[in-house]
Amino acid sequence: MITKETTLPELIAKYPGTRKVFDDAGLHGCGGALGPQETIEFFARVHGVPLDKLLNDLEAAKEAPSAEYREDLGDILYRRYFRAAIVVIMTAGATLGASMLFLYGLRRSFTSLDLFAPIQAHANAQVFGWVGLFVMGFACQGLPRFKYVRLWRPGLANLAFVGMVAGIALRVSAAWPWSGQTAFGLAGAVLQAASVVLFAVVIVRTLRSSRTRDGWDKYVLFSLACFTLAAILEPLAYWLTRPQVAPDLLIHRVADFMGPYRNLQLFGFAGVMILGVAQRILPTAFGFREVGKRAVPAAFVLLAAGLTLDLAGWFAFRATKAAGWAVASWAGTSAYALGALLLAFELRAFTRGEQGRSTKFIRAAFFWLAVACLMIFAEPFYTQSIGTRFSHAYHGAIRHAFTVGFISLMILGVSSKVVPILQGIDVRSLPGLWVPFLFVNAGNALRVFSQVATDLIPGPAFPIMGLSGTLEVVGLGVWGIHLWRLMAPRPAPAGAPRGAITPDRTVASIADEFPQTLDVFEKFGFKELKNPLLRNTLARRVTVRMACGMKHVDEAAFLAALRTCTETVEAPVQPEAVK
Ligand code: HEM
Repeated sequence: MITKETTLPELIAKYPGTRKVFDDAGLHGCGGALGPQETIEFFARVHGVPLDKLLNDLEAAKEAPSAEYREDLGDILYRRYFRAAIVVIMTAGATLGASMLFLYGLRRSFTSLDLFAPIQAHANAQVFGWVGLFVMGFACQGLPRFKYVRLWRPGLANLAFVGMVAGIALRVSAAWPWSGQTAFGLAGAVLQAASVVLFAVVIVRTLRSSRTRDGWDKYVLFSLACFTLAAILEPLAYWLTRPQVAPDLLIHRVADFMGPYRNLQLFGFAGVMILGVAQRILPTAFGFREVGKRAVPAAFVLLAAGLTLDLAGWFAFRATKAAGWAVASWAGTSAYALGALLLAFELRAFTRGEQGRSTKFIRAAFFWLAVACLMIFAEPFYTQSIGTRFSHAYHGAIRHAFTVGFISLMILGVSSKVVPILQGIDVRSLPGLWVPFLFVNAGNALRVFSQVATDLIPGPAFPIMGLSGTLEVVGLGVWGIHLWRLMAPRPAPAGAPRGAITPDRTVASIADEFPQTLDVFEKFGFKELKNPLLRNTLARRVTVRMACGMKHVDEAAFLAALRTCTETVEAPVQPEAVK
């Protein structure tokens, strides 16, 4: 009998026909041929399907013919995005940031103009590369599943990936004096903008193709709008602050618009996306509480209206120099912070959550979110108490608590559960990730507190701050290697239904499993497969579909001939009975 505790691999291995029921509920390529190492109950919760109905449908499908397992581009895109995000944070992102921080520590100052271009490159790489690529990869994988549809035009999402990676490389390379190429910076920023627009179109079309509507949809759409606007503004931001601009003019321009522009990226795009998607996945996959029906729109109004007031107030303040507008801008950021805290409270971020390696990251992320919010509330009182109108140190510390503490720890926590599930690996068999957890948190704590302390006791505070980035880089590196390895191609799990001849199998794997098909391959013009060298090299990368495309062979006729030859179309080798 199928029970809620039965795992997907157990069930699909025994009754391959049940796979279609899971696919209809959004499984598709997730977890490989046998699906993730999770129970039916967990699957029902995460995919928002009533458990009883799912169990009944599975019972009914037990004797159904074996469903074909197919992994298409939309199912695997996330790996490219996540891998590229790891490369970015370990190079132009955290590593470059930590080197600059070290120099600030040595020079005991935040105002070295010669470090301005690399810091802008760091900010660009972190926002569009680290956070951007992660969000894009997650959206391509998760959103269609949450909405029971397929990703609209995965090829375009892939194009957005290529454009974004090339854009980051160009934009970052323009920061170096030896490059000195404004054209590189501009071209990179334009490529980034085009990629974000393309990505936004793919996601909006995907969402529109679904009939399911959720309270968190507006968070995703608002965040996408901020991402798109920020990306469209990036070429302008680069142009106005390019290395050739005279220092006085540069300082004015930074004061006029850099603050709001960064808030648009970090609060508008990254923060609202995370807080929106958190409502969908934290209660279902991580055991946090569901956000109340009234809190969803209330928090949204606080976040969206707060950010709008923050930006409008700042521009009005810079134009009129009237202090009231600066207060309005701060009130807007504070409203945003209230909205974020409301959601953390609703999710019961510190008291709920399942046992597991990810939960500590998610709790810590909410802790740093709370720190950033409290610092936002206190900012005017702090600056007044130290007798200044603006503290770069304090403002930078808020930003770091938000970007590394909240955004990055959330990425670490969510991915360390989601990636094993997508790869069909039992997350309970994996290490607890304590090293990255302790290093990133320790580095972040040192940074936030020592950066503020540079206002008060610069002597000891600057060197401590200068070293804090190294701890974060080490922690992120250990986590990055771990995640990278999890995404490596894996052999078919034990008990995988063998024998299914599908267009996405490599020709070599079919020939290995069914040597009798070599004659069929030859008959259809693939005599190269009889050559052991070619079979062990090229043929390991070529799928049936690709081979048919290359030689203009009728795919359906070829598949039929292969299947007839093996006579295993609907009779995969059964592993041992599971119940
Ligand atoms: C992981 C370790 C990181 C280190 C060592 C680091 C280091 C730095 C340093 C030294 C600055 C300039 C000083 C300041 O304004 O406070 C800075 C600015 C900035 N960082 Fe980071 N950072 C890190 C992570 C991140 C992350 C994860 C993000 C984004 C999600 C990010 C986005 C930014 C932005 C937007 C700026 C402002 C640039 C500007 O002034 O316009 N950083 N970072």
